[in-house]
Amino acid sequence: KQPLNIIKIQNMKHERTPISMITAYDYPSAQLAEEAGVDIILVGDSLGNVVLGYNSTIPVTMEDMVYHTRSVARGAENTFIVADLPFMTYHGSLDETLGNVRKLMQYGHAHAVKLEGGAEIADTVKHIVQAGVPVLGHIGLTPQSVNQIGGYRIQGKDEQDTARLMRDAKALEQAGAFAVVLELVTEEAAASISEALSIPTIGIGAGRACDGQVLVYHDVLKYTSSYREKKFVKNYADVGALVREGISQYVQEVKERSFPAEEHVFAGSSGTSGSTPG
Ligand code: KIV
Ligand code: NA
Repeated sequence: KQPLNIIKIQNMKHERTPISMITAYDYPSAQLAEEAGVDIILVGDSLGNVVLGYNSTIPVTMEDMVYHTRSVARGAENTFIVADLPFMTYHGSLDETLGNVRKLMQYGHAHAVKLEGGAEIADTVKHIVQAGVPVLGHIGLTPQSVNQIGGYRIQGKDEQDTARLMRDAKALEQAGAFAVVLELVTEEAAASISEALSIPTIGIGAGRACDGQVLVYHDVLKYTSSYREKKFVKNYADVGALVREGISQYVQEVKERSFPAEEHVFAGSSGTSGSTPG
């Protein structure tokens, strides 16, 4: 099976086939996402929150993104992989921006990059696309600007704000973005943007009218010790509980000396157990 490409992803919009995207951050999560049949894997800078334990995406570095993207690429060789450009890595000189894009593609083995912002970064998007790198846009709530926005608030709540989002979406389309993520946007605003654009919209907390959906791996699976409910998320499994139960049972059996049992033991010449590992 070949990974999708941007032509096929864009055709999905026209065929009205919903696009499924999930984040992944390492080799096993990427393998499992690919085996489950996801269309696109996003190595999101949500890495900072869900894997590295920061309380925002701002501390995430290029080095973090390259390291994690590369391990995802090894786990999902047949899936289209998008990597986030982290905080402030695409706001300096064009050379600096393209150098960072190059690292995600060449060392991270991504197929495309994502950056946050609308009309104000359209020129940057255009230059990256001209270099031959597909760009996924990202508007609405843009977590790298949380300090500027003043919190994680819903976007597109009135006509004026919806008009701003529409201008941003069109600027990204014009600049050559192959699709746009809409994060925490009202369903009405997301619907009108999805209809106005010829490129796909991929929503998170943006309602039912988007051309695709994206969620964070650890949210889908409840893969964390202290899960905070989010209205826009559905938990499809409770991996956190499974992991906690599994490890506590292991600890208990070690304490009781019931693990290892006879079947886990390599015996010498006088024993009866097998001696081949695995
Ligand atoms: O980093 C991330 O996970 C993202 C998605 C929420 C779109 O950017
Ligand atoms: Na992100």
